Amino acid sequence: MNAPDPQLQDDPYIGRYERSAGHGAEWWRVTLSDRPQMYRIEHGRDEAPANIDTVVDLENLKSKLQKWHREGFLRPGDKEAPVAGEGRNGFLKDLKRAAPGKAIFATLSQPDHATTLIGTVEMPLGHAGPLVPRLNPAYLFPGRFADILQDIVENRRVMLIGHTGAGKTSLIEQVAARSQHGVLRANMNGQTTIGDFVGFWTVKGGETLWVDGVLPTAMREGLWLVVDEIDFAEPSILAVLTAVLEPHGRLLLKEKGNELVAPHASFRLFATANAVGAMSIYRHLYQGANLMNEAFLDRWRVYLMDYLSPEEEAEVLMRTLGARITPPMANTLAAIAADCRAAFAREDLASAFSTRRLLDWADLMLRSGDPERAAGPAIYAKVSAEDAALIRSIIRHHIAFDD
Ligand SMILES: Nc1ncnc2c1ncn2[C@@H]1O[C@H](COP(=O)(O)OP(=O)(O)OP(=O)(O)O)[C@@H](O)[C@H]1O
Ligand SMILES: [Mg+2]
Repeated sequence: MNAPDPQLQDDPYIGRYERSAGHGAEWWRVTLSDRPQMYRIEHGRDEAPANIDTVVDLENLKSKLQKWHREGFLRPGDKEAPVAGEGRNGFLKDLKRAAPGKAIFATLSQPDHATTLIGTVEMPLGHAGPLVPRLNPAYLFPGRFADILQDIVENRRVMLIGHTGAGKTSLIEQVAARSQHGVLRANMNGQTTIGDFVGFWTVKGGETLWVDGVLPTAMREGLWLVVDEIDFAEPSILAVLTAVLEPHGRLLLKEKGNELVAPHASFRLFATANAVGAMSIYRHLYQGANLMNEAFLDRWRVYLMDYLSPEEEAEVLMRTLGARITPPMANTLAAIAADCRAAFAREDLASAFSTRRLLDWADLMLRSGDPERAAGPAIYAKVSAEDAALIRSIIRHHIAFDD
């Protein structure tokens, strides 16, 4: 054997990396290549000749070394690497030990702060007032909403995305109704100007007055602000919003001599959108919606809200309409809604079928005793003739008519 090449010995990466595989040893060997700045790597099992033999540069080698380390390949004398797969298997165990569950809440609220339980989450109570939304006793909080509720407690910025009528706005409103928080809404689809949003100067009785827009009003008074259809917002509004997306982010009112508005502890910021992020594939259905850049989206927790399941929707129908509707009727109506949504997802239908629409149709048919007549003003008149025809056939598939 030749004397070891000094250059070779100095190189920190050279050597044989081994792991024992059930039936012997598997190895990677790293040597210097004939080509300058390059390494030769070989792979094999036991004493068999190498089955991989290639040349890589240093960058490439470093990433390979990391991968080998993860897989449990070690040089004799190197510090012990985790057994292959252990990191993978141990991750969830470690996480379960670390997951604080409700403990975070304790650090955010005073011990004597009154709370109310919504689902499984303890929500701090606000104060009654005219802006607290009306409570809908029929509203259903499925267990999957718990993460959103916990985010509200922790003062995270929550964006709810989903099809029209999936329940984005009502979720925020019903949490606010139960926890007594006032809600302001600003719709970005053409109605809200930067002046409405931030504030403006006006002249009243010869005096020049500043009028706060919805954002500083909500921040100062500890209200919950819902920015609806944020994917339609003008860039100037998005720029202002970005500043307050951090939990304690303050608003700079440039127009008012650079006054700083600090957020009240109860202030919360929400956004809703139909065609953002994971919903972008449906952008053609929501004409005019803007793509939101990822840096902006990364400042939010973005939740994709799907329609309620047929079982949940049947329950909402019964809770809303009470004894007037039987469980089989509720199940049939929920199944019709589910079929219409499936047709919408396949793009056979151009119009979405919201829970709002279903509740309204059910209410009207209970009054008239005629599902077809009720479908006129509740459904057919709102959609194209082709959509109406397809929805009619879906309804007839589920309900046998006398004619
Ligand atoms: N979990 C629920 N329990 C009871 N009713 C619900 C539930 N989710 C949605 N609804 C009903 O569906 C209606 C529509 O929901 P909402 O207005 O919140 O939808 P949205 O997603 O904000 O729609 P849009 O995109 O059109 O603004 C609500 O008024 C409510 O009656
Ligand atoms: Mg809404």
